[in-house]
Amino acid sequence: MGNLTGALIELYNIYKIYNEGHESEVRALDGVSLSVSQGEYIAIVGASGSGKSTLMNILGCLDIPTYGDYYLNGENVCNLYDYELAQVRNEQIGFIFQGFNLLSGLTALENVELPLIYQGVHGSKRRQMAMDALDRVGLYERMDHKPGQMSGGQQQRVAIARALATNPNIILADEPTGNLDSRTGEHVIQILDALNTAGTTIVLITHDPAVAQMARRNVRIKDGRIVEDTGLIDADAGPRAAFAGGNGPPSQISTHGESGSGQNARSPEAGGSAL
Ligand SMILES: Nc1ncnc2c1ncn2[C@@H]1O[C@H](COP(=O)(O)OP(=O)(O)OP(=O)(O)O)[C@@H](O)[C@H]1O
Ligand SMILES: [Mg+2]
Repeated sequence: MGNLTGALIELYNIYKIYNEGHESEVRALDGVSLSVSQGEYIAIVGASGSGKSTLMNILGCLDIPTYGDYYLNGENVCNLYDYELAQVRNEQIGFIFQGFNLLSGLTALENVELPLIYQGVHGSKRRQMAMDALDRVGLYERMDHKPGQMSGGQQQRVAIARALATNPNIILADEPTGNLDSRTGEHVIQILDALNTAGTTIVLITHDPAVAQMARRNVRIKDGRIVEDTGLIDADAGPRAAFAGGNGPPSQISTHGESGSGQNARSPEAGGSAL
């Protein structure tokens, strides 16, 4: 089957089955079809064990389904070799993991530079791109700190900077606010919101209804199946607009990099980025 709708992400009848045919068989995904257009902002919600991370791993080309087809940008990624999948990940997808997954021996700047190294970006250009990414999350002044010298919220923001350093088309975030207090979590959500406003497609997993409400579409998964899909929620209606209204225009993220090119223009970490 070809890519029918032209959407950015097309999942057709995806199954992820562990120990198939055995007594211990688990259908982590049990026939999932999902279409996501460029620029969407989706929250995936569901109970523990429902299949959210499994779905995210497949969306992020970190895992392949047992059955089904996945078209990303019109290409069936289920047919790709591992090294080709790695290339797709590096070029198109930014990951934010719940446990941050920062390398403890590297500074914030070096952590953010990593995906750029894999992309073959060199020298001062790479350094500048990483610094810009840290600036966008309000951590320009912490670039020489190692993860152990930073708070959980700061580490999460470094992880976000790493995810956005390559300007990915898609950001996948598994419980991006899971380990954070509500205020820090709100800041992270504002950053994601601003990225989406600037055009990045975002799929996030969350247990938190307030976080899910920030997304423009909610998909509920239960026992490996999609049981609810709100479709696009009107951004100008309901609590989301009220929430976003108090936090300033999220689109600032798209202009901040241009206006803050000199070191003196950088805002202090605390209130920091234009986000
Ligand atoms: N390698 C594996 N072998 C067997 N079963 C697995 C494996 N990985 C995941 N599962 C099972 O697949 C199901 C879905 O797991 P998944 O990690 O996607 O859940 P989740 O929705 O992300 O849960 P949580 O909210 O707790 O993170 C679970 O029942 C899990 O036990
Ligand atoms: Mg999970």
